[in-house]
Amino acid sequence: MSILVTGGAGYIGSHTCVKLIENGYDIVVVDDLSNSHIKAIERVKELAGKDFPFYEFDVCDGNKLDELFTKHDIGCVIHFAGFKAVGESVEKPLEYYSNNLKTTMTLCRVMKRHNVNKFIFSSSATVYKPGSQMPVSEDAELGCTNPYGWSKLICERILTDIAYADDTWSVVLLRYFNPIGAHESGKIGEDPAGIPNNLVPYITQTALGRLEKLSVFGNDYDTHDGTGVRDYIHVQDLAQGHVDAIRYADENKGAIAINLGTGIGYSVLDIVNAFEKVNGVKVPYVIAPRREGDVATVYANANKAKELLGWEAKKNLEDMCRDSWRWQKQNPKGYAGE
Ligand code: NAD
Ligand code: WQD
Repeated sequence: MSILVTGGAGYIGSHTCVKLIENGYDIVVVDDLSNSHIKAIERVKELAGKDFPFYEFDVCDGNKLDELFTKHDIGCVIHFAGFKAVGESVEKPLEYYSNNLKTTMTLCRVMKRHNVNKFIFSSSATVYKPGSQMPVSEDAELGCTNPYGWSKLICERILTDIAYADDTWSVVLLRYFNPIGAHESGKIGEDPAGIPNNLVPYITQTALGRLEKLSVFGNDYDTHDGTGVRDYIHVQDLAQGHVDAIRYADENKGAIAINLGTGIGYSVLDIVNAFEKVNGVKVPYVIAPRREGDVATVYANANKAKELLGWEAKKNLEDMCRDSWRWQKQNPKGYAGE
């Protein structure tokens, strides 16, 4: 039996593919490369030392998915494919709801036809209602401020209802906090298109000189240094969380939401300072106004992942900064190169 990985050419998907193969799983990957590059797949194969089937198509295409499930013996689906930029989702809500909901529902329909009933879903800490008590646990109140967040929350609901209606299903909703870092080889990593929205790609491109300076969005929050605090988690730890979630889904039925975070909050300036120190580079920055929609502090209560999956984050902030920089240095223009 193989694991179907949708969005496996993307940032988190590519790292998870390597980890799955290292853990003895056979994988089949589908990605339409709308936000990724074929080189990521080549590098995953190189790192894992193993070939696997890769299909380039849109997961909304039920006929192509049906063919894939007929051809391969799929035992479980890990669904990364989707759009993920919060700001863009406000500009293009229909595209976000369409892609994120349709990929999920199409997969479920095809899975039902082929009697596949294990689903690991990429959810996000963004589903927690702003203003929640920190550290935030899975039973906190849910609610979003942008279409991206709602698309994740609605998918969580759909998957939970499917598992409720059919008690053979296992659904694990993994709520990621802030994934950063890269594979230790520097061969795969985060490769955002255009100017990055997220903090760490912005820092690495500034350190490289591709961007002039970082804007720190606000230094008047109620945090230890006034800048926003988040729970940054190494993408390799996150990848391992998926391997552990598969084991959980093999042994348990029903739907469950699980945080994948470290439980530690770092501020923007903590990240900048650690990045400069670990890598011996400068990250010029200016203090800018707060970014609309941001909150002061978000970090996870990660106890449930430990109890149920036997998972906890192992890598620290230095590892995250070092590995992010290695990837950026070795791939100054990402996968596309010149
Ligand atoms: P990513 O954009 O790097 O990867 C997503 C992949 O899905 C891309 O390779 C893209 O080409 C592909 N894709 C998109 N729509 C598709 C479609 N219709 N058919 C086939 N392929 C399609 O993003 P990522 O950072 O690796 O995130 C993976 C998942 O985790 C996403 O669902 C995202 O919402 C979720 N997530 C990400 C973060 C984060 O900060 N990176 C945090 C929480 C949750
Ligand atoms: C982190 C901190 C910013 C950029 C987003 C999504 C969330 C999830 C992860 C998908 C904040 C500050 C940032 C910059 C800055 N994605 N910052 N200057 O906003 O916590 O979460 O990505 O599910 O849904 O909302 O991540 O990396 O954008 O910001 O000062 O140029 O860095 O204000 O405090 P965020 P981020």
